[in-house]
Amino acid sequence: MHELIGQPIAALDTPKLLLDLDVLDENLVQMQEGCQRAQKRLRVHFKSLKSGSLARYLATRGVQDFACAKLNEAEVLVEFGLREILVANQIVGSAKLERLARLAQLANLSVCVDALDQVRALGEVARRHNVTIGVLIEVDIGMNRCGVPPGDEVVQLARALVAEPGLRFVGLQGYDGHLQMLPDPTERARLCRQGLDRLKQTRELVEAAGFEVNLVSGAGTGTWSFACEHAALTELQPGSFLLMDAAYHWIRPEFNCSLSVLTTVISRRPGWYVLDAGSKAISQDFGKPLIKGRPEERVLKLAEEHTCVAIDGPEPSIGQVREVIPAHCCATMNLHRLVLACRKGLVEGVWLIEASGRYD
Ligand SMILES: Cc1ncc(COP(=O)(O)O)c(C=O)c1O
Repeated sequence: MHELIGQPIAALDTPKLLLDLDVLDENLVQMQEGCQRAQKRLRVHFKSLKSGSLARYLATRGVQDFACAKLNEAEVLVEFGLREILVANQIVGSAKLERLARLAQLANLSVCVDALDQVRALGEVARRHNVTIGVLIEVDIGMNRCGVPPGDEVVQLARALVAEPGLRFVGLQGYDGHLQMLPDPTERARLCRQGLDRLKQTRELVEAAGFEVNLVSGAGTGTWSFACEHAALTELQPGSFLLMDAAYHWIRPEFNCSLSVLTTVISRRPGWYVLDAGSKAISQDFGKPLIKGRPEERVLKLAEEHTCVAIDGPEPSIGQVREVIPAHCCATMNLHRLVLACRKGLVEGVWLIEASGRYD
């Protein structure tokens, strides 16, 4: 595969997953500058990226802190030398707790909890391995997924946490996932502020009870700028803003799509053509993909290995290429083993996506 380095995109066999590094860099700088202006730290969510080489590339551009959803992602980060990791999720079961404790020997690792049972199990494994595990209490600020309701229950959990010698109470996480794709920006901003107000009040309660809160983490690509304007968070944990996709670009046009799937036209008829990649290469859980730079060409349907596209003008000839912008970048990364990092039309790197297809 390394023979691809230096090749022009136009010469590549298809389908191939492409990452435009210039666009990625611009997205990163914009987020970094926004966070810096707001005096928030940036913690990049690795569940969108899943490639160790990509994480390392970001590290060379100033990203130190990463979040991940699953332990396999944290293991990839550690393997690639990244050491500031928040597992922004609940980790349950003895096999996973053993893996978590091993990671805590190698990295500055934190994890989320929302129940006493998790606190006890984490405390036990930390003691047995003689490690310290950082812990954030997840607060449910309206998403109705994991998390303790804002208020007293959080204080009770903090009390139990600080009593566990192997655990270090770090702070709170409040992620507003239900708002990320809300189309109306005014309503998204209002609800985001409402959720963060409750998070801030909860922090104040925890501090009034005598527990130090050093870190409050949350927000995603859809709420990032509103979170920057609010005092509740000390850091933001977005992920998709780097790759972007058709669904998110509509919500957050300030970030551009760096991820695409390079495909070839393999069939045509009047008003219609067919590409050589389908739902096995292009996620459609967030809707239909777009054809890059060709708004007049409309994706009609995806089969496993085909994408059918309607066109008003003359159809492209067989063998021509098209870049497809997926509707969901995270799920598309999860479908591929390799991504070609490109710049100015040339392949610069062939990067494995080590955590793709893994759910543990
Ligand atoms: C806990 C958590 N934080 C942050 C994010 C932000 O992700 P994105 O920026 O991709 O919307 C997610 C997305 O699923 C998440 O689950």
